[in-house]
Amino acid sequence: MTTGDGQQTSDDRSVIGTASANLAEAAVAIVKEPDLTAKTTLAKRTAKAWFTRQISLHGPGHKYSLPDTPGRPDKPELLPPRKMPKRSTAGERGRFALLHSLAHIELSAVDMTWDLIARFVSIGMPQLFYDNWVQVGLEEAKHFDLLRDRLGQLGGSYGDLPAHAGLWQAAQETKHDLLTRLAIVPLVLEARGLDVGPEMIKKLEKAEDQKSADILKIVYRDEKKHVAIGMYWFRFMCQRESRQIEQTFQTLVRKHFRSPIRPPFNEEARLECGMPPTFYKPLTAFGAPS
Ligand SMILES: [Fe+2]
Ligand SMILES: [Fe+2]
Repeated sequence: MTTGDGQQTSDDRSVIGTASANLAEAAVAIVKEPDLTAKTTLAKRTAKAWFTRQISLHGPGHKYSLPDTPGRPDKPELLPPRKMPKRSTAGERGRFALLHSLAHIELSAVDMTWDLIARFVSIGMPQLFYDNWVQVGLEEAKHFDLLRDRLGQLGGSYGDLPAHAGLWQAAQETKHDLLTRLAIVPLVLEARGLDVGPEMIKKLEKAEDQKSADILKIVYRDEKKHVAIGMYWFRFMCQRESRQIEQTFQTLVRKHFRSPIRPPFNEEARLECGMPPTFYKPLTAFGAPS
């Protein structure tokens, strides 16, 4: 909400509970916020303010300073991938470790999505683009809250175990270019979630942890939407720039992901998201003929 001379009114500030009066500023505040309850609350309030059209896309100047690393609490300790404890659904401790690592992935997704919104706020995308990513940012915040609450029900909390330090690297590696961000984050990393999600749900059900399985079902359903949204905007940008879609994706992944994409693939779910096997199968072995 702005006055006739473009100034923001105090009503805007009360809408999302911060000094932010536009989507870009609020997105930066979410990424920077180290208190995780405040981070997800702000994400939910910002989404509500955006969808009720109470805040604008950006303020004058369009320059927003995003941090190199998101705001996080002191715990969990972040470790390199090779030092991470092995993830398993066997036994109570194994299930807790699995849910803890998934919570960390969702928290990274919260920061990466709001980073995308703020970072690419001025590149001339349709309003639907921001609607879609605000919806994704809202759902990632809900996923993190669900998993964090579940850790609490199991007698622990997020931060009890070390977490993977590598996830934010994808955001840093792709901060220069939206097409690259879309290729790596939704179309490689989130698509991988579709491959492994159903098996994790089955294992949790087998271990009679229905509450955790039900949370993963919500996450899986939403992540399918996120991959579909990623595909939609990747195609949109390729068409706008007259690029060949599959070739562009494969070139970007080889350059910025730098490791092959591992099968087995959930081909059915990927196809439902608009991603045919010809899109990703040539990436299972770099250098092999496609
Ligand atoms: Fe998620
Ligand atoms: Fe997602």
